[in-house]
Amino acid sequence: MAIITNRPKGTQDVVPNEAYKWQTVEKCAADTAECYGFKEIRFPTFENTALFKRSVGDTTDVVQKEMYGVTAKSPANGKDPDDFTLRPEGTAGAARAAIENGLLNEALPQKVYYIISCFRHEKPQAGRLREFHQFGAEMYGSKDASADAEVIAMAKALLERLGLDNVDLFINSIGCPTCRAEYHKALKAYFESKKADLCPTCLDRLDRNPMRILDCKSPICQGIAADAPVILDFLCEECDHHFEKLKKYLTAMDIQFNINPKIVRGLDYYTKTVFEFITNDIGAQGTVCGGGRYDGLIEQLGGNPTPALGFAMGLERLIMTMESKGAEFAPAKKCDLYIASMGEAAQNKAIVLAKQLRDEGYFVEFDTMNRGLKPQMKYANKIGATFTIVLGDNELETSAAKLKNMATGEQTDITLGDGFIDAFSNAVVSEMFDGVMENFGN
Ligand code: HAM
Repeated sequence: MAIITNRPKGTQDVVPNEAYKWQTVEKCAADTAECYGFKEIRFPTFENTALFKRSVGDTTDVVQKEMYGVTAKSPANGKDPDDFTLRPEGTAGAARAAIENGLLNEALPQKVYYIISCFRHEKPQAGRLREFHQFGAEMYGSKDASADAEVIAMAKALLERLGLDNVDLFINSIGCPTCRAEYHKALKAYFESKKADLCPTCLDRLDRNPMRILDCKSPICQGIAADAPVILDFLCEECDHHFEKLKKYLTAMDIQFNINPKIVRGLDYYTKTVFEFITNDIGAQGTVCGGGRYDGLIEQLGGNPTPALGFAMGLERLIMTMESKGAEFAPAKKCDLYIASMGEAAQNKAIVLAKQLRDEGYFVEFDTMNRGLKPQMKYANKIGATFTIVLGDNELETSAAKLKNMATGEQTDITLGDGFIDAFSNAVVSEMFDGVMENFGN
């Protein structure tokens, strides 16, 4: 039978055999964030479109070309449909939630992290999806460069914990509105002289926001942008001092970095520090992490002026990089016991024993397919059960069975009565001990 539809282009299914990789990364991300004092925040998958236009910026590729709008089929009370958009990133939603829930009125700094799905209508390719996932972290309240260093250190720590110690860090400063005014003039003059070759979107950007041309994906615009003036030559004293301090802190923490004056990031809210971690191991889409400071955003969204900064990592790209390095993922939990049964009474006992052990935290399976003994044992083998028990009339009568260690074939007697859980726990502990001794011996 043919499936009625396939998954939408640019999306991915994560089947159980792959999900443990995601769990490894997500757990490691949450653990690392907590070591750095970040707490989880959750916010909606869609927001008012105005939020993204105001924050990400309506001259960016993300807002101009990549957003997915959401409209209700039947607008409430015949009113105009609300204008919602699936989040293309997390910074805007997290900032909106922080303002709306009064987080920024509490003791500062406030530090939050999130693991979310994001949506951008881009051309799909390896490492570039239309629905993708981010681990992001945002810090509100500190304007000091030590906060920039802390956030970068956390991103680096997570990469290292995932076994990715060779991902290169690139930093830049894109200044504040003061130094950027001069820079915009220089950029505008440069691009005016190349006007004839710019794409139509960049022609529009020339007047409204010339810095966005630096981020255009058209190869011709990229070629022109390669020789454009760089912002580092235009930094005001305060921005320059901030950048120097950041470099000093990173050096003190022994975090290696490269300065790349071409990094401007594709989103409008950034000020001062911007950074990216890039790997060469997964092809063209090698930016596994991007972030920076956005000191004006909170005020722009209606909050009290509050400096802020953060980063986000693409989980698909992280996992791809880990796979390319042969990195280790925590294995999925293994089945401790498979209870095979012959006949209805035995199956009844199997259900009860399985429940007792599951209540104690063990991973137990029994037959729910009404299979014969042979296919049940085949299944136990397939799922990699550590132990098996076979229940039949004899076992029910004597209230005892053979517990088989599937790796060694060794069989031991086990009661099915009161001492069952203790006896099984002892067998598991002894199996673990044998495993450790074996590793030790090797
Ligand atoms: P971004 O650079 O747009 O920044 O995205 C962050 C990361 O998300 C990228 O480095 C990449 O790993 C991943 N990513 C982006 N687009 C895709 C895609 N189409 N497919 C797969 N992965 C993708 C932001 O989103 C900012 N909100 C980061 C930030 C947080 N800045 C401050 N705080």
